[in-house]
Amino acid sequence: MVVVLNTEQFEAWNGAEGAAWAAKVQDTGDGPEAELHRLLLAAARVGGRDRVLDVGCGTGDLSALAARRAPDGHVLGIDLSAPMLSRARRAAAGAGLGNVAFEQADAQTCALPEDGFDAAVSMYGVMFFADPVAALTNIGRALRPGGRLAFVCPQPPADCAWYVIPVAALLDVPPQAAVDAYPGPEPAMFSLSDRARLGRVLAGAGFGDVSIEPVHVPHLFGRTPAQAADGFLASGPTRYIVEQDAGLTRERAHTKLTAVLEAYAGPGGVLLPGGQWLVGAVWPGEVRL
Ligand SMILES: C[S@@+](CC[C@H](N)C(=O)[O-])C[C@H]1O[C@@H](n2cnc3c(N)ncnc32)[C@H](O)[C@@H]1O
Repeated sequence: MVVVLNTEQFEAWNGAEGAAWAAKVQDTGDGPEAELHRLLLAAARVGGRDRVLDVGCGTGDLSALAARRAPDGHVLGIDLSAPMLSRARRAAAGAGLGNVAFEQADAQTCALPEDGFDAAVSMYGVMFFADPVAALTNIGRALRPGGRLAFVCPQPPADCAWYVIPVAALLDVPPQAAVDAYPGPEPAMFSLSDRARLGRVLAGAGFGDVSIEPVHVPHLFGRTPAQAADGFLASGPTRYIVEQDAGLTRERAHTKLTAVLEAYAGPGGVLLPGGQWLVGAVWPGEVRL
């Protein structure tokens, strides 16, 4: 049985949000997302025999890469989302990866083996906890002493064109107004985007040697502007805006988004810039007696 404390997130990631992410356009393996994965696994110093936990693993792209880097170790991907986990399991089986497993679990509360992992990694999977300190403490306890944590999370909304551009287009407002419309540090995409808060959360959870480095890697949203518009209408704040605005039909929203996304289309697809924090930390920090 999956014991879930983050029930709203469970519903979202097993509902429309999870379905949209399970269907999302895949980076080809040499695109910008792959670069972020490489940076993240390097920050976690994942080696050949490591036991790796992937938190909020989603469709398992990072888990699969970690499994390849640790052929004599193993990887456990945990996530709330059943549809995303089924895609992860299918992909790992299709790739013949025998050292990766996936479990549906709430990372904030689930029982993980103490000292069970050498490294914990997460790509955009740690911002949705009702209590991030409790969640990161739970993850830390699963690491051996000296175990490494590395994750990627977004910088503030103003630094993420992938948020500002489509939201401003749908609301018909200038970019700054789209930034101001963001509701604040609730459990959502930007909840750890404030660098000082991020540091406090990691220290509060008991991690030490914390590094928080800015990186800027664009994200792929579709092969064409129309496909990217479909993706934006299926998830996140853009889906929410259209749902809430009775005067904005899906067709009209699609037209607005497609028009604004044209400027970001190139041979590699529709790429929107964004800033991320690349975070590294070691478990435990100062040992408290
Ligand atoms: C933005 S997606 C990122 C997925 C994946 N890491 C990727 O890069 O494509 C966030 C993921 O975190 C998962 N998630 C959110 N809250 C969680 C929780 N409490 N425990 C485990 N997973 C969670 C969601 O189900 C979702 O798959």
